[in-house]
Amino acid sequence: MRIILSKSAAEAVDAVTTIVLDKLASHPSLVIGLATGRTMEPVYAEWVQKAVKLGLNMDKAFFFMLDEYLGIAENHPSSFKSYIKERLMIPLKLHESQFAFPPIHQSGEHYETLIQEAGGIDLQLLGIGVNGHIGFNEPGSTPGSRTRVVELTEETKLSNQSHFGIGQMPSKALSMGIGSIMDGKELLMLATGKSKADAIKYLMNHHNDEKCPASFLKSHAHFTLVLDPEAASKISLNI
Ligand code: GLP
Repeated sequence: MRIILSKSAAEAVDAVTTIVLDKLASHPSLVIGLATGRTMEPVYAEWVQKAVKLGLNMDKAFFFMLDEYLGIAENHPSSFKSYIKERLMIPLKLHESQFAFPPIHQSGEHYETLIQEAGGIDLQLLGIGVNGHIGFNEPGSTPGSRTRVVELTEETKLSNQSHFGIGQMPSKALSMGIGSIMDGKELLMLATGKSKADAIKYLMNHHNDEKCPASFLKSHAHFTLVLDPEAASKISLNI
């Protein structure tokens, strides 16, 4: 595992964005797995801003979304499809045909096949839940899990309720599994803010622990964890 400890949240966001854009510049047909959540919002904002400035052509790139809620319309303002359309697809004038979304009307196997047919995911972006979840792989998820329907924990529902206002928060989602994520050639996780400090501490101190799905990633040969000082506030790093 490679850790990048940034001096601020803005620097952490910049580190992630730079890695993504450098790869896209050198490999235009990169296949990228995209994560959602508040953590990733500034990454997409900076990605758009820099890509426009650099005149980066992304027409050959392909994107797989990591997860999606079940039980809401795909054009619901809080769906992850709407999230990425608003933050990446529309601002960068990318074509919808460059994106694959977890198949809410088809089996998870279909999504796994699509990923394989695309040659696998070159770079998988990830956030982390306060309980150590990745995508929507909640504690208890197994390392061999693949794209499937998952039940959200109360903790996750509470964290994400604000996206739904007074509306009903979905209790189920479709998520790439831990096995699907581990198949990615390179994994890049961003954690910022105090609310992630406990999850990061647990992640640092545990390996292959189902209580913290993110801990499985430490076995990956190319896993980079980017932290801001608040997310790193409960760990000690000798650097
Ligand atoms: C969300 C997503 C994850 C995300 C995590 C953290 O619900 N399913 O992909 O990494 O939970 O979200 P946030 O960045 O808002 O804390």
